[in-house]
Amino acid sequence: MSRPHPVQVIAVTGGKGGVGKSNVSVNLGIALSQMGRRVVLLDADLGLANIDVLLGITANRNLSDVLAGECDLRDVLVSGPGGIRIVPASSGTQRMTQLSAMEHAGLINAFSELGDQVDVLIVDTAAGISESVVSFLRASQELLLVVCDEPTSITDAYALIKLMNRDYGTNRFRILANQVRNEQEGKHLFGKLTRVTERFLDVALQYVGMVPYDEAVRKAVQRQRAVLDVYPRAKASLAIKALAEKVDSWPLPSSPRGHLEFFVERLVGTGT
Ligand SMILES: Nc1ncnc2c1ncn2[C@@H]1O[C@H](COP(=O)(O)OP(=O)(O)O)[C@@H](O)[C@H]1O
Ligand SMILES: [Mg+2]
Repeated sequence: MSRPHPVQVIAVTGGKGGVGKSNVSVNLGIALSQMGRRVVLLDADLGLANIDVLLGITANRNLSDVLAGECDLRDVLVSGPGGIRIVPASSGTQRMTQLSAMEHAGLINAFSELGDQVDVLIVDTAAGISESVVSFLRASQELLLVVCDEPTSITDAYALIKLMNRDYGTNRFRILANQVRNEQEGKHLFGKLTRVTERFLDVALQYVGMVPYDEAVRKAVQRQRAVLDVYPRAKASLAIKALAEKVDSWPLPSSPRGHLEFFVERLVGTGT
């Protein structure tokens, strides 16, 4: 058995619904997988447009079954496009902070077993800043905020940054502009967000680039396929591949805190 190694845990979030979190999560996962990383995607959204709907996947089991001790995490994993593996959404993910001691221990076991078979865990969060969303954010090392050029997206992203900073001291956020027309518009959007955060908060926002508005994404969604899978040469796909190159260069957690079981401990509220 290989030694436990650090796993990069990236929460894809953004406050507002419909900005493109799930599409970014899936396609970033596929792009990283194509680069040789072993990717697991955790669907932490019970909403209607979740990953199984997005990809036309039927999940027979989910995290609730693991919590109930009825199966292992590997029974729950579903194969997705491009070699990614998916943990389907379940009501279990909505009550991570309220687990019984036994469920808690079971979950840590489940994830530590998975630990040596995964390099990157991507968490696709629900919209908003509910307790459940926040528990995933505070457990993840990297927060990737997807924003688009709409006032509500910017104010929701700001509210999320403010809450994480005030309550958990998070001061590093990665910003991805989605559904913009070009590079310039992406940078402009980032500028708008930094202006409000710099004025009121002590946080560092890091711009990671943009994904253009691209009809290919909509067409792929209609076909219940990932855009990177069906339109790999589309502008949005190329942008996601460029994003994956950047993500791959982010520093890996060097402490044991980077191991998957510590993610779960923070998730369920015992870790710090
Ligand atoms: N870059 C893009 N270009 C065009 N349409 C997009 C893009 N990103 C997302 N969309 C559209 O926005 C919709 C919502 O995306 P989704 O990933 O489900 O958002 P969220 O997970 O934030 O709610 C999708 O149905 C998709 O058609
Ligand atoms: Mg979504």
